[in-house]
Amino acid sequence: MNIKIVKTDGDVEGLAEQKWVYSPSVKTHFFHPENLVEDVNGFDDSDYNGVGAVGSPACGDMMKMWIKVDPKSDKVVDCKWQTFGCASAIASTSMLSVMVTENGGMKVDDALALKPQNILERLGGLPPRKVHCSVLGDKALRKAINEYFRHSKQFDRMVIEGSVMVDPDTRITDRDIEEAVLEGADDMDKLQKKLKVGIANKDAYAKAEALMGKFMEKYYG
Ligand code: FES
Repeated sequence: MNIKIVKTDGDVEGLAEQKWVYSPSVKTHFFHPENLVEDVNGFDDSDYNGVGAVGSPACGDMMKMWIKVDPKSDKVVDCKWQTFGCASAIASTSMLSVMVTENGGMKVDDALALKPQNILERLGGLPPRKVHCSVLGDKALRKAINEYFRHSKQFDRMVIEGSVMVDPDTRITDRDIEEAVLEGADDMDKLQKKLKVGIANKDAYAKAEALMGKFMEKYYG
């Protein structure tokens, strides 16, 4: 049975759009999160060899994740996290922590290959406007794995993620487009309304359109 949560945010006009339906799995992981660090002051992280902290540009929420990788098997054998995020971030990160540690742990390369879409599938989906919440844990995991590579001096395995300038006039990067897509921009009109990208630059428009397609595919299939 699905639960229905109506969130108004004081936006009465947008109320009809904001009727969000959460799956039973989201509800379970929200009310009973797995691997959550409730009291960070009482948490001994000395045994963890990778830590990552990220913030969401889409909403300002925060996520911190600790992982323990067994160097012999190259598997993630433990994963703990803490967040100042919403119900969707809590549920998706709880699910992510289960996915990377179940069955004796996931190989580090497989954990790196996980996409937010994989978490959403296991959760039974999230309302479209909450998809960006599943990205928070995913980004924290990547950062924690990178830190593990750094600590274990496996520099050749580190994943360097940089941003690429799309529109030099408005200083819009591929990261801005990714965030806009996660916030609901699913056509060029909405993207331009949000970012003013490619208004006076045909080349930038074409690049932005291609990137929007790529991120739509990545997050929404
Ligand atoms: S609204 Fe911020 S993580 Fe969900």
